[in-house]
Amino acid sequence: MADFVVVANRLPVDKRIEPDGTVTYKRAPGGLVTALTPTLATHSGAWVGWSGAPNSTDDPRVDGIDLTSVPLTEAEIADYYEGFANSTLWPLYHDLLVEPVFDHDWWSTYVEVNRKFAQAAADAADRGATVWIHDYQLQLVPQMLRDLRPDLRIGFFLHIPFPPYELFTRLPWREELLRGLLGADLIGFHLPGGAENFLTLVRRVLKLDASRDPVGVRDGLGAIRDGGRTVRVGSFPISIDAANVAEQAAATTDRAAQIRAELGNPSTILLGVDRLDYTKGIDVRLDALDALFAAGRLDPADTVFVQLASPSRENVDSYIAVRGRIERAVAHINGTHGTVASPPIRYLLRPVARDELLAYFRAADVMLVTPLRDGMNLVAKEYAAARSDLGGALVLSEFTGAAAEMDRAYLVNPYDPRDVQDMIVAAATDPADRRRERMAALHRQVVDFDVDLWSRSFLQCLAGAAAENESTR
Ligand code: ADP
Ligand code: F6P
Repeated sequence: MADFVVVANRLPVDKRIEPDGTVTYKRAPGGLVTALTPTLATHSGAWVGWSGAPNSTDDPRVDGIDLTSVPLTEAEIADYYEGFANSTLWPLYHDLLVEPVFDHDWWSTYVEVNRKFAQAAADAADRGATVWIHDYQLQLVPQMLRDLRPDLRIGFFLHIPFPPYELFTRLPWREELLRGLLGADLIGFHLPGGAENFLTLVRRVLKLDASRDPVGVRDGLGAIRDGGRTVRVGSFPISIDAANVAEQAAATTDRAAQIRAELGNPSTILLGVDRLDYTKGIDVRLDALDALFAAGRLDPADTVFVQLASPSRENVDSYIAVRGRIERAVAHINGTHGTVASPPIRYLLRPVARDELLAYFRAADVMLVTPLRDGMNLVAKEYAAARSDLGGALVLSEFTGAAAEMDRAYLVNPYDPRDVQDMIVAAATDPADRRRERMAALHRQVVDFDVDLWSRSFLQCLAGAAAENESTR
């Protein structure tokens, strides 16, 4: 039993069974794990989640954290994870970049799997414990858990954008999802806009009394009256362990120089680092580079773009399709603008080890972060943290949560091809002192507003919200 429990779709590690039968655990992909691992290291507690493999029941202790596996069958993985979470909610919450599928069987499985997570959390939590539930895969867990364990303090944080009324109400199960979330004492979003969308939806769909004042950042919470309880709603922009990233990145100087040499010491190295996802705008940056090479604004003989992509949700059709689009674009650019000896695009489809990733950050003159929509984007923050040398430049999409805080980046509208091209050229060619001054501001931002501030501010507000509800019970 633990007095602090994290509940997330994924455990922080992926279980792999090697061909010889040995079991290994590797760090799981994505921003949620990046953000929560340092948080849990400072709160001794438990983490309830799925191991990434079917039917896994083992509960290892990894890096001092007690892990509790929620076993999922292959059918549940197909209908809950690949289906409802990633073919319905993910595209609906990301501006309909692909068409969401509304399937009643998937919904039934989503409900059943959320119940499994709620039960596992109820079993792991000590009396009066704080339980922090994460992300769009588990939006029904707050109310299910409250029904099982009214003694708990329950927080929920959404790691992706929360859409406006006009998109959300397409969901046949809109009332059930809103009700599921309202089981929490505090519901957190990255940006005030997401929190305000939620308050509007609760008012219009559920006809509850919800505050209308603008929501602040880490402050000025919204409030919803639901029966005898008050549910608080707030904005808590997630971040990274910036000091740690800066320190580890500073130790990669030799490897960074070696990477530049391996790439032929070109004048400009551009870098992309993403899960291979259609939201990330990998094709946006490839199209921009194609146009810049064609127009002679960048020299393909003296420019290298490295795209490090991590495979993601590989059984989902829209992910299979985006992989095809990206790989065709890479082949097109290299075939058109490159030589056999020096293709301008280097593309890797596998996760890169942490140290190696940091060395790439230090080697890159320009980081390209061009999502069409992203809740936050931790890669932008990692790059700024890694550049304690104040080198490099960040091209950042306005459609990321990170852009709200990192306004000294080279901000771009990813829907405007000319803007993307112009900003890439500016980031690559602006005078060194201007680039340096921008990077100094970005680096300071991520160091000052780090993941510790994110978790502390959320947990403080949660304690306040829960105490208020306990006093009226
Ligand atoms: P998301 O949560 O959508 O995956 P984020 O940018 O917020 O996006 O977080 C992604 C995390 O995964 C970051 O910590 C990033 O460093 C890591 N990551 C992304 N691509 C790779 C890769 N190719 N190799 C290793 N780590 C990666
Ligand atoms: O941040 C969004 C998110 O979906 C997280 O919930 C998740 O851990 C990460 O991206 C990676 O996605 P997946 O778990 O589907 O590989």
